[in-house]
Amino acid sequence: MKIGLIVGSLRKDSWNKKVAEVVKELLPVESDIIDIVNVPLYNTDLDGENVNEEYKRLREELKKYDAYIFFTPEYNRSYAPAIKNVIDIGSRDPEGNLWAKKPAAVFSASMGGYGAMAGNHALRQSFVYVDLIPMQQPEIYLSKVQELFDENGQMVERTKKFLNKATDAFVEHVKKHA
Ligand SMILES: Cc1cc2nc3c(=O)[nH]c(=O)nc-3n(C[C@H](O)[C@H](O)[C@H](O)COP(=O)(O)O)c2cc1C
Repeated sequence: MKIGLIVGSLRKDSWNKKVAEVVKELLPVESDIIDIVNVPLYNTDLDGENVNEEYKRLREELKKYDAYIFFTPEYNRSYAPAIKNVIDIGSRDPEGNLWAKKPAAVFSASMGGYGAMAGNHALRQSFVYVDLIPMQQPEIYLSKVQELFDENGQMVERTKKFLNKATDAFVEHVKKHA
């Protein structure tokens, strides 16, 4: 089992990226953060016969995984546009929609008090059409994420424990649906 980790925030000091790095350590199976930083916005003019190199690279990379965890911040009460872009590109692979029937989860984090819940739920809505199979429980909303890391940049133990339960639940979800 190989799990692809997709981080919607593109900035180098992203809290969501820090959470993804902890999740990668906690997962008892192979996982990797998929590089989406330089992928151009989806444009059908860049697809087809002379497909854009980044679209091609991203699709080949996405195909290596059996399941995906998306880490999203909330932008204006929705999810990260970089994730929408990846979903769009993956849905238009020459072999078809590469998301279909793949297990997935949404982990969201924000510096505010709501844990990017609106963004998290907006992303779940996008799962419906591309046929990603969501893990419903537990829900992962990390609020005030900047307080969940200590002065050395280490995640605090109680959050690690919570994420450990969530990653275990996700592995079970994948086993059920893969
Ligand atoms: C364009 C923009 C819109 C934002 N909108 C929201 C929002 O709707 N809700 C929220 O809680 N935070 C919002 N934020 C704050 C981000 O969620 C916060 O900066 C978060 O730390 C970004 O995630 P990152 O650290 O992984 O980059 C917004 C930030 C930006 C740049």
